[in-house]
Amino acid sequence: MPGVTVLGLDLTNPVMVASGLLTDQERNIRKLIEAGAGAVVTKTIHPNPPAHLDERIVRLPTGMLNSTTYTKRPVDLWLRWLRGFAEDGLPVIASVHADTPVDLGELAVRVELAGCRALELGISCLNEEDGLSDTPERVFAYTRAVRDHTSLPFSVKLASGEGLRERATAAAEAGADAITLSDTIPGAAVDPESGRLVLGGVFGYSGPAIKPLVLASVWELRRHGFALPVLGCGGVSSGRDVHDYLAVGATAVQVYTALHTDMYETLDRIVTATVAGAPRVSG
Ligand SMILES: Cc1cc2nc3c(=O)[nH]c(=O)nc-3n(C[C@H](O)[C@H](O)[C@H](O)COP(=O)(O)O)c2cc1C
Repeated sequence: MPGVTVLGLDLTNPVMVASGLLTDQERNIRKLIEAGAGAVVTKTIHPNPPAHLDERIVRLPTGMLNSTTYTKRPVDLWLRWLRGFAEDGLPVIASVHADTPVDLGELAVRVELAGCRALELGISCLNEEDGLSDTPERVFAYTRAVRDHTSLPFSVKLASGEGLRERATAAAEAGADAITLSDTIPGAAVDPESGRLVLGGVFGYSGPAIKPLVLASVWELRRHGFALPVLGCGGVSSGRDVHDYLAVGATAVQVYTALHTDMYETLDRIVTATVAGAPRVSG
């Protein structure tokens, strides 16, 4: 399988590592690229991340629930890391978010000045205190602010679910170069001992079970003529999953939860099967 161009970056293969705890460390990011990632998206950088939330992950038989939000590392540290990645020519995409559209635009400028060549707007995290009720207007405001502040290519990360087509259209109209679909989607589990919700509420659900939902969303967007590149993300754990996303119209694919088990070996397996290009039965 040939490489692919995503957000102006020439990737050796279409398997990217999605934003998450595993991409919250400089060393992991470098090693994931060494292990074969076409690109790596950083944990979402935020100038003012919530401080007092109980941020945890819980494994379920069908995937993972997580209550994490943004990196707790200071922006200046990330800028230093991003400068190093740029100097070494590594395909690292900075995921960014902020409390207001203008703050996000300003953060995007700082990231661009550090030499980073592409961004993902991590604006769809549902784990903040009041959850996320996303609207096309909100997506438009964040996207437009970043477009007004920087000429860097960027993807807007959205969550599958209600009103997706309107939100994706808002991102496109406000100047996004791509969308990433999907962030985690709302999920809950009940603790059999206490009868209460695990983690105390509804949080981000990810892993194999969300793949059919996200595939359907990508396919529906394409069916309605959505023209921007789509970076498909949700439940990828094999070469076949990657090819399924490409088959419904994704340009490239991101993988996250699967990497919580044997991170580098799992990535290598997915990339190898993807590049081999014949994963319809196994891989
Ligand atoms: C523990 C954890 C942390 C995550 N942190 C972020 C984040 O900081 N920013 C973001 O855009 N997405 C974040 N995500 C979402 C993933 O990037 C991805 O969109 C989602 O998990 C679906 O893909 P998957 O099923 O392959 O995990 C996180 C997911 C998990 C499980």
